[in-house]
Amino acid sequence: MKSVKDELKKIIEAVKKYIELEELAGAGLYGNRSFPDTGACPRRESAEMLLDSLKKEALSCLKCDLCKTRTHVVFGAGNPGAKLMFVGEAPGMQEDLQGLPFVGRAGKLLTRIIESIGLKRKDVYIANILKCRPPGNRNPLPTEILTCEEYLIKQIELIRPRVICALGKFAAQTLLRNQESITRLRGRFFDYQGAKLMPTFHPAYLLRNPQDKRLVWEDMKKIRKELISREKIC
Ligand code: URA
Ligand code: URA
Repeated sequence: MKSVKDELKKIIEAVKKYIELEELAGAGLYGNRSFPDTGACPRRESAEMLLDSLKKEALSCLKCDLCKTRTHVVFGAGNPGAKLMFVGEAPGMQEDLQGLPFVGRAGKLLTRIIESIGLKRKDVYIANILKCRPPGNRNPLPTEILTCEEYLIKQIELIRPRVICALGKFAAQTLLRNQESITRLRGRFFDYQGAKLMPTFHPAYLLRNPQDKRLVWEDMKKIRKELISREKIC
């Protein structure tokens, strides 16, 4: 008798998970049911065009000294209508060489973190606070952040994600204008530009401290729940 009950429980759990993933998948791409075609939502179309022209502007940016040492500008990548956006610190060596965010070792782990909640990289949008690599991966300077943040703020305005996940101390403190440690900031939602912002540990930190992966999975589960509860219309 007990085993039948257990079996039923298992089936119910599996169905629940399936429904949640279906909702997430449906919501991932352009995230709405009233405009199933990408071309049918005028606000999104113009936002995509504006995001494209912002990218062109950023690719030839000469506003700070990082332009002298960079190979490529790493503007950001992913779904311009994403419900979920990730913000990291700055491009590293691989990102600088390829012009894409999070493609090195930390990036591979970020891919797994995204997939842990049933999404793919192409469903979300990934960007950084700084668009150019600081030489030797040194910390971003306050003046570089001030100059470059303009691009990120416009990206967020155009993408209008429901949830922003700030990866690591730097992204969290910069976006929240807050000096609290990442250990205290992570795992909680903050309001930011009309979105819910969740700080969590940076994947590069997790590579050095794998025991803390568990905490990131917990934060991601909260993000998944928040995404399911908030429908994105256009
Ligand atoms: N670390 C970051 O913060 N961003 C990247 O794009 C890659 C590594
Ligand atoms: N320090 C950071 O800068 N980021 C983390 O995620 C953890 C510690």
